[in-house]
Amino acid sequence: MGRSLLFSANISLKSSCHLPRCSLPSFNRSYQCVPFSFKGNSHNGFPRLPSIHAKPARNLSTTKAVLSELPYQSRYPKIGASSTGPIPLNQLIQVVETAAKTGAEVVMEAVNKPRNITYKGLTDLVTDTDKMSEAAILEVVNKNFGDHLILGEEGGVIGDSHSDYLWCIDPLDGTTNFAHGYPSFAVSVGVLFRGRPAAAAVVEFVGGPMAWNTRTFSATAGGGAFCNGQRIHASQTDTVERSLLVTGFGYEHDDAWSTNIELFKEFTDVSRGVRRLGAAAVDMCHVALGIVEAYWEYRLKPWDMAAGVLMVEEAGGTVTCMDGNKFCVFDRSVLVSNGVLHSKLLERIAPPTEKLISKGFDFSPWFKPENYHTDF
Ligand code: IPD
Ligand code: CA
Ligand code: CA
Repeated sequence: MGRSLLFSANISLKSSCHLPRCSLPSFNRSYQCVPFSFKGNSHNGFPRLPSIHAKPARNLSTTKAVLSELPYQSRYPKIGASSTGPIPLNQLIQVVETAAKTGAEVVMEAVNKPRNITYKGLTDLVTDTDKMSEAAILEVVNKNFGDHLILGEEGGVIGDSHSDYLWCIDPLDGTTNFAHGYPSFAVSVGVLFRGRPAAAAVVEFVGGPMAWNTRTFSATAGGGAFCNGQRIHASQTDTVERSLLVTGFGYEHDDAWSTNIELFKEFTDVSRGVRRLGAAAVDMCHVALGIVEAYWEYRLKPWDMAAGVLMVEEAGGTVTCMDGNKFCVFDRSVLVSNGVLHSKLLERIAPPTEKLISKGFDFSPWFKPENYHTDF
């Protein structure tokens, strides 16, 4: 793709609704970004919600006893949308896939070139490619659905907060890997309908220097998960000892980070191993693909998770918070698994998570755009 991407902070968003059709970006429009409208104090440049919504601790032993009597498929509620409103799923997924692939073209164009790196935190990187990929994705979304709400990692909230649709965009998940040319990074696009994932696409970069390639994961609520067009399924492994697991560690080295270091140690001792690849969307797609059994992480953001969680659920897996509670993309912990193993993993993961909650660690929803309506 030899085009140069021109974008500025002055983008004028169309307020009219466009027919849901797929179109590639023209790369020369300019946008007006609506400022962030979250409640609460600020975190990494994003306002943070107040910590008063922490979920109350549950009595886990009672819950465990009740849960163990149910087949694993019915123990945990589904997280996918049950409706997509007036827009048919096949139209939604077409635009989602086009958007993710358009971002991936930008990343592919840059993957063998020197990076221009700036820092969001001591070790939290951002490159020009993250921003250019997001601009290209926004072009596609805006051309097709000019009245939808968008939450992009780099640009924040844009659009109509009264829309039922929220696009969660990670234009480059695994930026550190990308900056080093180390495999495991992706473009991740998920769209929510009233807060629940409806359609998702993740373009994963596979290979390495001199051999980069991509594979595309996609899923729709109730319609299954696919990799390069082929249906995929989570694994059937039912013991921790025969499992290969994955986790991740965010940039903030707080109590949750330390708790997860302990979980890393514990599961390394009792499983076939715990991997730490560094791209949440990719990690979740690997669970959906059945090549690993589970993945968990504290403090991910909606753009890290919106696509990956749907991929896992639609591949037959299970998604909850790390305390076992019902998950939504604004939660601050996630456990995705092949389903069969979920309860066994929670036996070890839930207690330290409950401990963090009882110590007052903030697990309240975050990055939920103000006025965005959800069904929960
Ligand atoms: C990060 C990656 C990483 C995870 C971090 C994320 P970014 O996203 O997904 O695996 O551990 O918590 O922030 O910054 O590369 O888009
Ligand atoms: Ca990310
Ligand atoms: Ca990112």
